[in-house]
Amino acid sequence: MVTTRNVYVHYGEKPIVKDFSHLFKEGKIHTIIGPNGSGKSTVFKALSRLLNHKSGVIEINETPINLYQPKSLSKILAVLSQTNHAPSDFTVRDLLRFGRTPHKRFFEALNKEDDTIIDWAIKITHLEALENRRVCCLSGGERQRAWIAMNLAQQPKVLLLDEPTTYLDIQHQFEVMELVKHLNQSLNMTVVMILHDLTQASLYSDEIIVINKGEIVCTGTPETVLTTELIQKVYNVNVEIGRHKSGKPLIVPIGRA
Ligand SMILES: Nc1ncnc2c1ncn2[C@@H]1O[C@H](COP(=O)(O)OP(=O)(O)OP(=O)(O)O)[C@@H](O)[C@H]1O
Ligand SMILES: [Mg+2]
Repeated sequence: MVTTRNVYVHYGEKPIVKDFSHLFKEGKIHTIIGPNGSGKSTVFKALSRLLNHKSGVIEINETPINLYQPKSLSKILAVLSQTNHAPSDFTVRDLLRFGRTPHKRFFEALNKEDDTIIDWAIKITHLEALENRRVCCLSGGERQRAWIAMNLAQQPKVLLLDEPTTYLDIQHQFEVMELVKHLNQSLNMTVVMILHDLTQASLYSDEIIVINKGEIVCTGTPETVLTTELIQKVYNVNVEIGRHKSGKPLIVPIGRA
């Protein structure tokens, strides 16, 4: 569904993402992990065309992304960035109305169908009680749910989530991850996330992609990727690996390598 082949992304002359080739499969949850500064968000910027890739091919449904009109791309792919800003007077509902933009012509008013989709996105993210509150005055967890809801109002086929659980307490982390799983299972939504929590990556991903210094070092199921050796090599940390009842690895750091 989303394919990258030999993709290089540069900032100025400096290559940040190198030779990135991967097939993100329809209806699967993929998680990119890797140290700070390894190029994870840069991959997202290239996938969403915020940044032009220098060379290689990025295709969605077998069409190179540079051939998509911005609006058609936004109908397929929604991105939750690492940092988000809404105008200070925007309510949650205003934010979701904004999420409908790709489906509207210039200055076209929202109609009943848009309202139904916005209501659905509010319900699925449990934002009913907050829809008229200003986004700027929500707690970190509530705000994160509002941005995810805006992404959903876009009705994308592919959801890119850059560190969706950062700053959240464990209850809200759990809720966001369960929401992602629910969207994936009930709507067959293809998900690509960036996570730092290796146990979360283990429990919620069909496939993990490990990048280090801009290059893919390993891909596969959580069971095959998340080994003590790999984590030691990439993060310089020794870990103990337990087992969840599902058989998936649970990662506990125990010291510097
Ligand atoms: N606008 C920019 N101009 C120049 N260099 C940049 C720019 N944005 C990011 N970089 C550099 O590119 C590299 C990769 O950054 P990126 O944001 O992709 O890392 P990341 O893996 O998402 O890290 P983190 O886990 O900290 O979010 C870093 O060395 C960063 O300093
Ligand atoms: Mg990042």
